[in-house]
Amino acid sequence: MTSNRPTTTVPIAVSASAAGEPHTVRPFAVISGAQVQQVLEGREKQIVELVEATYRLHGAGDSVNPPSYFLRFPDRPSSRIIALPASIGGPVRVDGVKWISSFPENVQAGIPRASAVLILNDHDTGYPFACLESSIISATRTAASAALAADRLSRDRSRPTRVGFFGTGLIARYIHTFLAASGWSFDEIGVHDLSADSAAGFRCYLEQSGTTGRITVHDNAEGLIRGSDLVVFATIAGEPHVSDPTWFSHHPVVLHVSLRDLAPEIILASTNIVDDVEHCLQAGTSPHLAEQLTGNRHFLRGTLDDVLAGRVTVPTGRPVVFSPFGLGVLDLAVGKYVYDEVVRSGELHVIDGFFHELRRYG
Ligand SMILES: NC(=O)c1ccc[n+]([C@@H]2O[C@H](COP(=O)([O-])OP(=O)(O)OC[C@H]3O[C@@H](n4cnc5c(N)ncnc54)[C@H](O)[C@@H]3O)[C@@H](O)[C@H]2O)c1
Repeated sequence: MTSNRPTTTVPIAVSASAAGEPHTVRPFAVISGAQVQQVLEGREKQIVELVEATYRLHGAGDSVNPPSYFLRFPDRPSSRIIALPASIGGPVRVDGVKWISSFPENVQAGIPRASAVLILNDHDTGYPFACLESSIISATRTAASAALAADRLSRDRSRPTRVGFFGTGLIARYIHTFLAASGWSFDEIGVHDLSADSAAGFRCYLEQSGTTGRITVHDNAEGLIRGSDLVVFATIAGEPHVSDPTWFSHHPVVLHVSLRDLAPEIILASTNIVDDVEHCLQAGTSPHLAEQLTGNRHFLRGTLDDVLAGRVTVPTGRPVVFSPFGLGVLDLAVGKYVYDEVVRSGELHVIDGFFHELRRYG
């Protein structure tokens, strides 16, 4: 049974905190996708700022973000479920885990590829206190990170006016929404997808979004890349399928969100920025393949946090590729933001009696 009780904590003392305050168990809440969307819609600028602050906290070491765990299935090789456990300090101060599935065949059945939940755990007691629908949170933090990177990585070059979307599913749509809401406008918007239906659907979305840029659907990858000075990769490719460095001779900014599209030769001919070095150099990403090919990491310029802090500059005479592995700390920060806003609105749905055995000896 659920109720809309505001988030009063259940006054059951389980231990004493360092400050001498008794620890209490918060009621467990469930936050639906509709509630998540209601909180996040129209708040793109705040979310980009939150993601920037979270990268800075992570860069300063005020987080724990172990490697993601990939659950794969011998009988369903194209599918996977990934666990992203994390802990973040600073003003957010929460632990938790995102559990996100990728089942690409869903798309043929008319439902999104990815589905997810996010569990938030109390910093003091470890008790889970919320389960949030998280496909929207995940897409939102990914798009906010991409919009932040597009801005910071293009600051020393002329601001891109021609964007190209390589792979046009849900993530591409969120990235376009975040770019537009962060003040980007484009003279030209290129679209390329292996699926004509996806390209047509994305074109339709763009037209409805009120964009003034000219929209071109490209049948071939080369035309899209050569015609774009900001390229967004959001495919589901498992192995590199773009391998000619000359396609990038105009030195575009590349948001390599899908991580496995570019052959190592292109990585090696570019300035490479990642979100986290240890995370990104694993699981067969293009930077990981480049490391395996060369035996070193010299091709990495730094992290986005290095760029934000001014420790690293981005030369203009080469393409710049941002490869974000996707950090659990970002999901936690956005998830906690959503939780706090739902609490503030008085619409938190609490599951009464979710934690039941709370007295040690009954
Ligand atoms: N780095 C991160 O933090 C992060 C976060 C979320 C999602 N992602 C990645 O973003 C990608 C896109 O996610 P989505 O939910 O939009 O997927 P989706 O299935 O909705 O869309 C992917 C699209 O890419 C197209 N495509 C596949 N291979 C292609 C190719 N070789 N060339 C051109 N088009 C191709 C498909 O036809 C499809 O339209 C996934 O790889 C996902 O893992 C990354």
